[in-house]
Amino acid sequence: MVRYYAKISGTGRGIPEKILNNFDLEKMVETSDEWIKTRTGMSERRVAADDKACSDYATIAAEHALQSAGLAARDLDMIIVGTVTADYAFPSTACIVQRNLGVKNIPAFDVSAGCPGWIYTSNIAKQYIENGINRHIMVIGADMLTKITNYKDRNTCILFGDAAGATIISRASDIDISRIIDADISADGSNWDLLVQPGGGSRMPASYKSVRERQHTVYMEGNKVFKLAVKSMFSSCEKVLKRNNLDTNSIDWVIPHQANMRIIEALGKKLKLDISKIIVNIEKYGNTSAATIPVALDESMRSGKIRHGDIVLMTSFGAGMTSGSLLVRI
Ligand code: UT7
Repeated sequence: MVRYYAKISGTGRGIPEKILNNFDLEKMVETSDEWIKTRTGMSERRVAADDKACSDYATIAAEHALQSAGLAARDLDMIIVGTVTADYAFPSTACIVQRNLGVKNIPAFDVSAGCPGWIYTSNIAKQYIENGINRHIMVIGADMLTKITNYKDRNTCILFGDAAGATIISRASDIDISRIIDADISADGSNWDLLVQPGGGSRMPASYKSVRERQHTVYMEGNKVFKLAVKSMFSSCEKVLKRNNLDTNSIDWVIPHQANMRIIEALGKKLKLDISKIIVNIEKYGNTSAATIPVALDESMRSGKIRHGDIVLMTSFGAGMTSGSLLVRI
């Protein structure tokens, strides 16, 4: 069987305009700019407009990515959206993005994998490119966590922002040096209850009580999640590096999930990484869940920081508890 290689051929982002900064949060809960900055590295985050949903920003990101790849929507063979804040419980956000892009008769579906949603969807796309079935797949990581945030809970409300990031994963040509070198995805369901939106699903359908008790918002045991995040992202990175006989000296850039600056620093230390190789934009956006990595990738490629031929290791961790990494030559 012929095996093809997959590469990232285009990137894009859709970022809401409205900014919520630490001083705004000081007026909402008992917190301070200083606490938030020192404990998380965040200064501000973006908030989706009241009349906008996940698919709106995902579509902007998708159009942006198509432009950068020099492709038309009709060139796409599949659309996958990694999200935990879909427009609706059903249909999938990917189907709405498909309608917005004006394409028909291709598969479109969402993947619920928490913050590593984009790593999971990229891994799926990689398989369809490598086995020769598809040529171009739209892979989106998009989340609107502010829509499910409890702005009375200072443990969580300071963390989250909204954004969408898109990448197009395409078949590489024979002479291309760009390729997805390897990918790893994993989950540990035994800890699913550390990070959960309890209400709204079949376990706890919406009721007056569930709304009154704010069960439709994020619940997180931050401390436990923190420790698992460092451990899981480290072991995923280590697995991928070992499998490819690489060490961190051979990596040009690492883009970690942007959940907390202290998690990023602890991961960098464990990986013995020079901090200048780690791409961070947490200060501006906070934790945008599945969007953190594709947004940071798009920004870094458009600014010229990440260049053609660079080796980039991306890694994430989140609700599930899921984790995963993607090793790419750009
Ligand atoms: O994207 C998925 C992955 N998500 C994550 O990885 C998030 C992981 N968790 C975290 O980032 C951190 O655990 C938090 C930022 C959520 C919390 O930081 P922490 O250093 O773990 O704080 P803590 O929960 O241990 O709380 C320390 C103190 C507590 O007060 P006492 O009990 O020591 O008096 C909290 O009540 O800080 C207090 N606190 C706050 N104080 C001011 C908690 N949140 C705030 C706040 N402002 N916003």
